[in-house]
Amino acid sequence: MVGGAQPNSQSQQDQTSLHARVEALCADIEEHNALLRLARDRRLSPQRVALFLYNTEQLIRRTPEHISRAITVATDKRLDFLLPYLAHSAKEEVDHHKWAERDQTVLSGVHGEATVFLLPAMKRLMQWLQATIDGDPVLLLAYILFVEYLTVRVGPGFVAAAQESGVPVQALTVISNHVTLDKDHVRGDFAVADKISASYPRYAKSFEETAATAAEFYSCFLTEVATFPVQE
Ligand SMILES: [Fe+2]
Repeated sequence: MVGGAQPNSQSQQDQTSLHARVEALCADIEEHNALLRLARDRRLSPQRVALFLYNTEQLIRRTPEHISRAITVATDKRLDFLLPYLAHSAKEEVDHHKWAERDQTVLSGVHGEATVFLLPAMKRLMQWLQATIDGDPVLLLAYILFVEYLTVRVGPGFVAAAQESGVPVQALTVISNHVTLDKDHVRGDFAVADKISASYPRYAKSFEETAATAAEFYSCFLTEVATFPVQE
């Protein structure tokens, strides 16, 4: 993707290992993922954008229930240090799927109804996320951190490229609104992750591994948006 900003920009030597890892994961996706290549080449069809928006809506629609599940499991496991972060996230993430809903309405108004469906890779991502939360809800932080960092990094370029492919900017608010919000979120996410790792060193490695797994699942989703057979 072109023009990607580096969220929470710090000099390389100031970056924590987790920050460096997430940056490397996102740089790899930006350079190699098929959907981002399509966007870069200005070959992004409205139908594929509709497929992206629908699947994104389905994922984000479940965010409050993911956070609520994490609160329940963290409470059961006495992981009290996670609860303030989750409580704050729960407040921040209400109704964000409605942006994706409205985007789809705008897009279909301009380009007509597209056939959309839940992609297999999105189902796998959701299943993995659920299992991760149930296994150790602290690791939800690494997933959120990765997705928010990626959004801030590649979102602006993706929106610009989609516009050049004929998608109105008003149909991309789920991305552009998150780019704005998640700049702040990313700073907070890293601060919380660093604090947890300082108190519980085992998490330093687990956060990196979970971010890497999240990147694999999310990258597969983006690839399917780019490659799944759709009528264009
Ligand atoms: Fe959100």
